[in-house]
Amino acid sequence: MFETLTPPQPDKIIQLMQMFRDDPRKDKVDLGVGVYKTPEGKTPVMKAVKAAEELVWKMQDSKGYVALAGDAGYLAEMKTLIFGDAVPHARLAAAGTPGGTGAVRQILEMVKSLTPGATVWISAPTWPNHPAIISYLDLPLREYRYYDAQTGGLDRAGMMADLADVRAGDLILVHGCCHNPTGVDLTLDDWRALGELCLATGAIPFVDMAYLGFGHGIEEDAAGTRLLAGMVPEMLLAGSCSKNFGLYRDRVGIAMALCGDDAAATATGGMLAWLNRQNFAFPPDHGARAVQTILGDAGLTDLWRAELREMREGMQANREALAAELQRITGSDRFAFLAAHKGMFSLLGATPEQVERLREDHGIYLVFDSRMNVAGLTPDTIPVVAKAVAEVMG
Ligand code: LMR
Repeated sequence: MFETLTPPQPDKIIQLMQMFRDDPRKDKVDLGVGVYKTPEGKTPVMKAVKAAEELVWKMQDSKGYVALAGDAGYLAEMKTLIFGDAVPHARLAAAGTPGGTGAVRQILEMVKSLTPGATVWISAPTWPNHPAIISYLDLPLREYRYYDAQTGGLDRAGMMADLADVRAGDLILVHGCCHNPTGVDLTLDDWRALGELCLATGAIPFVDMAYLGFGHGIEEDAAGTRLLAGMVPEMLLAGSCSKNFGLYRDRVGIAMALCGDDAAATATGGMLAWLNRQNFAFPPDHGARAVQTILGDAGLTDLWRAELREMREGMQANREALAAELQRITGSDRFAFLAAHKGMFSLLGATPEQVERLREDHGIYLVFDSRMNVAGLTPDTIPVVAKAVAEVMG
C-alpha cells in the first residue's frame, strides 16, 4: 500500500517552522509561524492560564470522559465571549474542537454533508490551510479579491464585485479580525454590506475567529461578527483559543452555528457532536477547562484581559517601531502600512526571491508569501530587520 506513496506537499508555514529550527545561526529571527513572543523572544504560559490550571489540578477529581461536544460550561462561556448578547444563545449550536483548525474542519465537514454543492468563497489571499482543507474535502472553492497590494488596504470594490456571484447556500469565509496573512480588516460598514449581501443572496457567512483580542480589544474585534450575527438567519464560526489564551499545543477550539431558531440549533448541535464522534470522539478537555475557569471567574478574567492587552500593545508597538525605522532608513512611507495593520501579520510585499534572500543572507524568516509575524520582533531585532528589508527590497 505504501510503495508508490509520495509525501504530500508540506504546509508552507509548518515547513518554515522546521527550517528555522534546523538553522544553526544564533542571530536568526523567526517572523514565520503565528506564535506570540515577548520582547525577550519567549512564548510564555499566561499567568491567568497557570492560575486556572492550578485550580483545575486541585479541584478535578476525575479524568473520565466529558461529552462529545465538550463541556457545556466551556461552550456557554465561549458563546458569551464571542457573541456577547448579539443573538439569543439558544440559537447558537456549538461543539468543542481540537483548536481552531479542528473547528474549520468540522464545520466544513458539516457543510459537505448538508450542502455538498455549496461553493466556499475565500479571500485572496488567506491562511493556506483554508484552501487545503476545502480542497481535501472536495468542496467547490472560489476566491474573492481582498488585499490591494498598491494601497496595503482592502480591495473593497474587487471584493464586492467578486462576491456578487455568490449563490444561495454558498459560504463566504471571512476572518473575524486580524486577517491572516494581510493584517487588513473589514470596517463595520463592510460587515454590514456583507450582511446585506447574504440577506439578498442566501449566502452564509463563515467567520474564522482565530485572533480575538489581538486587534483593538475583545469587544472591538468581535463587533463585526456580532453585527453580522444580528442581521442574518444563519452563520458559521470557527473559534480558537490558541493565540489569545496562548494555549497553542493544548488545542482549544469551538465550532459554532447560528441557526434560524432554537430547534434548528439543537439539531445542529447534535450534528456537530456526532461529527466529533466520527473524527476523534471527544474534544480535548484540559485547555478548554482552563479557558472556562478563567472566563467564569472575574478576577482571572481581569488578569487574562490585562495580559492580552499587553500582548496586543506589544505587537502594535513593534509595528510602529519597524515602520518608523524603515521610514528613517529609506526616507519613504513605503512601509507605513505596517503600522496601520492589525494583529500578528502583515504582508511585506517582498518577492519570493527577496524572501529567500532575507532568510539565506540575513537569517530572517518570513513565510514565502512575505507574511511577517510582527510579534516575533524585539527591540534588538527591529533595526536589524529594517536594515535587511531596506537592503533586500531596496
Ligand atoms: C499561522 O498562521 O502561522 C498559525 O495559525 C499557525 C498555523 O497553524 O498555521
